[in-house]
Amino acid sequence: MIREIKNICCIGAGYVGGPTMAVIAKFCPDIQVNVVDSNKKRVQQWNSNDLSLLPIYEPGLRDIISQIRGVNLHFSNEVKKHIQEADMIFISVNTPTKKKGIGAGQASDLKWVEACAREVSNSSKGHTIIVEKSTLPVRTAEVIKNILEVPKSQINGKEESPKTFDVLSNPEFLSEGNAIKDLEEPDRVLIGGENKNAIDALSKIYLNWVPPEKILHTNIWSSELAKLTANAFLAQRISSINAIGALCESTGADVREVARAIGTDSRIGAKFLDSGPGFGGSCFKKDILNLVYLAKYFGLPQVANFWESVVELNYWHQKRISELIVKKLFGTLHQKKILILGFAFKANTNDTRESSAIQICKDLLLEGAKLYIHDPKVSAEQISEDLNANLYSYESEMENNEKLLWFKVDDISKDLKNADAVLILTEWEEYGKINWDRAAEIMRKPAWVFDARSIIDIEKIRSTNLNFWRIGDGSLSQT
Ligand code: NAD
Ligand code: UGA
Repeated sequence: MIREIKNICCIGAGYVGGPTMAVIAKFCPDIQVNVVDSNKKRVQQWNSNDLSLLPIYEPGLRDIISQIRGVNLHFSNEVKKHIQEADMIFISVNTPTKKKGIGAGQASDLKWVEACAREVSNSSKGHTIIVEKSTLPVRTAEVIKNILEVPKSQINGKEESPKTFDVLSNPEFLSEGNAIKDLEEPDRVLIGGENKNAIDALSKIYLNWVPPEKILHTNIWSSELAKLTANAFLAQRISSINAIGALCESTGADVREVARAIGTDSRIGAKFLDSGPGFGGSCFKKDILNLVYLAKYFGLPQVANFWESVVELNYWHQKRISELIVKKLFGTLHQKKILILGFAFKANTNDTRESSAIQICKDLLLEGAKLYIHDPKVSAEQISEDLNANLYSYESEMENNEKLLWFKVDDISKDLKNADAVLILTEWEEYGKINWDRAAEIMRKPAWVFDARSIIDIEKIRSTNLNFWRIGDGSLSQT
């Protein structure tokens, strides 16, 4: 018999937990969904009356929150209480790369997942289905089961009421900026597990809005590994097209034309072939490095090297862009004003984790540039924090010891005044609408426009006296 799920608890109110639970609650009005987080500020933000203060920005998210928050969707810090009440618990906590110890720099740090498993083991009641929503190394379900199945001690001579668990893997494939659409119309929902009843109980939730043919069942290890593999394949495509883009610039070819030509091959497909400043985001690098670690651990160094090269190329590519800018601006950026347009790792999100903008801006600051940074959704505080994350000596190299780390630009056309260069790093739509005739009048000559996102209409800039570079365009490098 399929278990009726009435009460869900999701541990982790982040980029995945928040939107995913919002969509489940929207389509399952009979289920109470409690999203819990140990971070007080984050929960306050989720509960804010002013929806512009939600902790994450996702198109469509505010509408859902305004309709069902307080009805069957709740955000709270009461982790124990909601674990106790839940018959299904999603673990949706962060799994970043380990910073120290064995596997540092590659393996996933599972301390938050382990803490969840211990909390569930202590606080749950009766039978609970545990769903791995976080991206995890293959065989993590085994670790979770081991923690959950530790025999419970006797309390006051009385046997504690028996607790039983099923563990399922249900990785999330949403992409930021598109999260609500990805959740409402997923390409597939993947459920890995052993117990048919538990699998059916989770499937039944998704069947409220996902067609049955899109719900895939696999064994638990395949499900865990499929998530890492999907991200590795996607990232690999970006490194591949960026590598070809560099070759285009040297040969007179155009990466957009090459992408179009290969993308029409149905075996290759047209998506994920946009050359840009390198992939960012919290997951691609971490998940590939995790795959690298697993391959090494299981004695497969060639497999490890193959995937590691995808990350190495991405880093080289980011460096290539900052080096190219220095070269075009006569080998020095000292006190040169450069407008950075876009700091988020992609458009339609306020997330800056692993954004290529961070590495590129740090490199430009090191060369002495004055950076004026704009992003429609990223806060100045976040930009400041990201650029201070590592201690660099560039501050001391500034004349008068000025701390010219970042500036929030409010009016792009005004702030172009006396700028030596503009660098577009995120594909926000508004950057495609800049008036380049006006820009050409007020920038300091010779002025450069670097478009790392192919967002500028090349015809609109050709008629100006601005120097123009865009990613992977060999025709520009040849002139
Ligand atoms: P996040 O950092 O935005 O959110 C994680 C939240 O978990 C944080 O708010 C943190 O305070 C909370 N948390 C950690 N340990 C806790 C505990 N013991 N008790 C209560 N709360 C706790 O992370 P995210 O971006 O939502 O990613 C979560 C997982 O989903 C990761 O494994 C990630 O790889 C995966 N994933 C992320 C995305 C994405 O687009 N961000 C997409 C698919 C999968
Ligand atoms: C990615 C995957 O697309 C999701 O399926 C996955 O669930 C998620 O990682 C995760 O596990 O966290 P996300 O990182 O949100 O989603 O965004 P993507 O759209 O994949 O973009 C990642 C990076 O690649 C961005 O910096 C983006 O600008 C870049 N990119 C993407 C390109 O440079 N070119 C492209 O053609 C596509």
